[in-house]
Amino acid sequence: MVGPFGNDPALNGYYAPFHAELDAPDLVVEGSLPAGLAGTFYRNGPDPQFPPHADDRYHVFDGDGMVFAVRIAHGKASLKNRWVRTPKFLAERAAGKRLFGVFGNPRFNEAEANPMDYSTANTHIWPHGDKLYALMEGCPPVAMDPDSLDTLGSETFGGAAAGPFTAHPKTCPTTGDLHAFGYSAKGPASTAIRYNIIDAHGRPTHTTFLDQPYCSMMHDFMMTENFVIFPCLPVVIDMARAMRGGPMAAWEGNRTSYFGIMPKGGTAADLRWVESDACFMFHSANAFERGDEIVIDVAGSPRAPLMPGADGSLPTHEESRFAMRRWVIGKTGMRAETIDPLDVQFPRIDDRRQGQPYRATYANGTARPTAGRTDGFDMLARIDVESGARDSFDAGDGAYLGEPVFVPRGAAETDGWLLALKWDQQRNESALLVMDAGHLADGPVAIIRMPARIPGGFHCHWRPAA
Ligand SMILES: [Fe+2]
Repeated sequence: MVGPFGNDPALNGYYAPFHAELDAPDLVVEGSLPAGLAGTFYRNGPDPQFPPHADDRYHVFDGDGMVFAVRIAHGKASLKNRWVRTPKFLAERAAGKRLFGVFGNPRFNEAEANPMDYSTANTHIWPHGDKLYALMEGCPPVAMDPDSLDTLGSETFGGAAAGPFTAHPKTCPTTGDLHAFGYSAKGPASTAIRYNIIDAHGRPTHTTFLDQPYCSMMHDFMMTENFVIFPCLPVVIDMARAMRGGPMAAWEGNRTSYFGIMPKGGTAADLRWVESDACFMFHSANAFERGDEIVIDVAGSPRAPLMPGADGSLPTHEESRFAMRRWVIGKTGMRAETIDPLDVQFPRIDDRRQGQPYRATYANGTARPTAGRTDGFDMLARIDVESGARDSFDAGDGAYLGEPVFVPRGAAETDGWLLALKWDQQRNESALLVMDAGHLADGPVAIIRMPARIPGGFHCHWRPAA
């Protein structure tokens, strides 16, 4: 079956666009939903409104953001999905065609495309205060109504966060403050980073600018009890290379990696950089302080998957394979340890443990690595980050699992539920799995059947009912 936008592999299979908005008020549930499970599971991901220009090359990181919301209450579940109405989305809908190059590459922008409007808001969905924020690292957050999923508009927090804003902010579990940053903060490929603290009511309380050693594509950062850590890893953004027809962001494995460590609420004067050999992560699970060291647990790889080298060549799966890794940063360097060799993609935790010593990370992983299959995560795992012990659920051949989200029930970080979207490739069906987080091997306690196949996407969040 060929997707609606032709036979480009990135627009077919798991990532074939959904290209519709729907409301399904009463979903079919197998098993029974736990009585205490009440709230909304959100998932953001790429769903291009229009195909790219014929001579431009689509990338799954580039599709327009589409948010799926599964609301659970009183043992029932409903589904709503909406595109995020970004300035790019609205301009292209009005024009009836694609106006922007992939990743906003100016070589492929049409004359009426305002480069400042390039935003897909497709990566994460983050509740803060009474809003929901659709996040993509190249632009300010886009606020949405958590219930209707209506787009409320770009949010710069009074101008404090005008410009790029990470898709991976961190919420401090004690203060409720949102810590965030944006790279390329003084123009594309600039080394400037803007660091913001937004309080629990959405008011900016701290804004400062830093410089990283080179313009790395800094997708995530880390927060401990007292510090924020900025990882400058060698996926390098180079506009001159892009204008020559090369990749705008490329892996440059001969470069040093740097970790910028700064007290929370600090400024450039407080920032120190620790060097290491080239290494890569898209996503950290958690970070915490241990004596003089900072411990960072990541889905780590020797080089960046999905990202080309400077010559445009893509890495093999083995060259860029993830594992659950621990990076221990001391005063002068970083040492890497393997927690679990499992090929993991999106590690998450009980968010109440953010920045604190903890034991449990939850991730989607690959139970049956087969040649050429690089996007299928067919296992849900809970990994003890101290012992490496693993409790897991194998979802079967042809299963594609999205990012799992932990929903607490009691105080312990394994006492709760784990929710994850699953696409069954063989049956072309999707479902939201509800697992007992402390007993993954037992299989789902409930399966919420989706009324249609949900395409592959990125990050998820849970927002408890009021
Ligand atoms: Fe991410």
